[in-house]
Amino acid sequence: MKRYRLLLPSHSVPWHAALLVVCAAGLGACAADSSPTGVKPDTANAVPADTMPLRHYAQLRGRYIGAATGTVLTMPGDSGTKLRAIVTREFDMLWTGRFMKMDYLRPIRLAYNYTDADSVVAFGKRNGMVVRGHTLVWHSQVPAWVTSGNYPADTLRAILRDHIEQVMIHFKGKLAAWDVVNEAMGDDGTIRSTLWFGSLGPDYIEQAFRWARAADPDVPLYYNDYGIETINAKSNAVHALLSDLKAKGVPIDGIGFQYHYEAQSAPTADQVVPNFARFAALGLKIQITEADLRVRVQNGIASPADLQLQAAAYREMVNACLRTVNCNAIEIEGIYDGQAWVPDPTTWGAPVLFDVFMRPKPAYYAVKAALAGN
Ligand code: XIL
Repeated sequence: MKRYRLLLPSHSVPWHAALLVVCAAGLGACAADSSPTGVKPDTANAVPADTMPLRHYAQLRGRYIGAATGTVLTMPGDSGTKLRAIVTREFDMLWTGRFMKMDYLRPIRLAYNYTDADSVVAFGKRNGMVVRGHTLVWHSQVPAWVTSGNYPADTLRAILRDHIEQVMIHFKGKLAAWDVVNEAMGDDGTIRSTLWFGSLGPDYIEQAFRWARAADPDVPLYYNDYGIETINAKSNAVHALLSDLKAKGVPIDGIGFQYHYEAQSAPTADQVVPNFARFAALGLKIQITEADLRVRVQNGIASPADLQLQAAAYREMVNACLRTVNCNAIEIEGIYDGQAWVPDPTTWGAPVLFDVFMRPKPAYYAVKAALAGN
């Protein structure tokens, strides 16, 4: 007689009580021969043996599992309803993708637009989810009134400080973290040449963190970047930068690793863990902040072989976080493949855990298995 194993949290309820709950809820075939009568399971309607969501297993491992909302939270129709059900069932952390960036929050100098960002924060609060703030200082998505303003350095410094202060005061007490500075390091390991660096000099990074801490004494402040997940010239430079800033008492609490990779070249856990460890040794919390492990697509559809390869890459990524005590969050670059950013969408896509039809992919089950310790 086939046995069905229910993967239930043994710590929370006695397994037989949980079994009754699952069976009573009609969630699918229950353990067939747990009773002396050996009731035959209704395999015609069986659901996957494990219907517990990602957030359940992440919580058991002391981690948040999150996703970029895109426009899903306000998406109309059945698609929106289905996607919001996925978000609230599977994830306990959100980031907004666009709604908290400077060009979105302050499209003109005289006005802030918090509507969409506030709706994400409110959604998270209603559904027991935390929200990451992303991002206060970035060289991209800077509003035109700033980039074309030709402001003298002192004026630009005042604009940046005002932006940081206004936004952080608005969200004070509502966010689980802020990406204060995003992608300040160039891929060659030198400070990226940006509007902020060119006008304000290299101390803009230190200043941004100090202004942020002064505006909100409590929210964890993160530096966030990509291509720094393993030990390389760029991560060496970021490590040196953050080490210097920490030594000067600059209030940096954590580092975000964006984790944007082509799945077939994504790093293994063994390649990532030593790098995570050296940043943790600086006293920094570690978060994976924008994971997209993309594969080649044709009309948005990936091959079964590539989806399996992607699943293996996601498993390695989750294990890298689980093997790092200071790693407390894993965030995905989108809820489903229909709205998930990739750097080159003409060739690559299908980067996240649910496909364009909103079905869980092999990567979803790989993430769940890794979080469950299987
Ligand atoms: C992307 C978002 O996911 C998209 O929704 C948005 O339209 C563009 O930006 N590095 C970053 C993120 O730090 O802010 C970017 O996110 C992806 C690259």
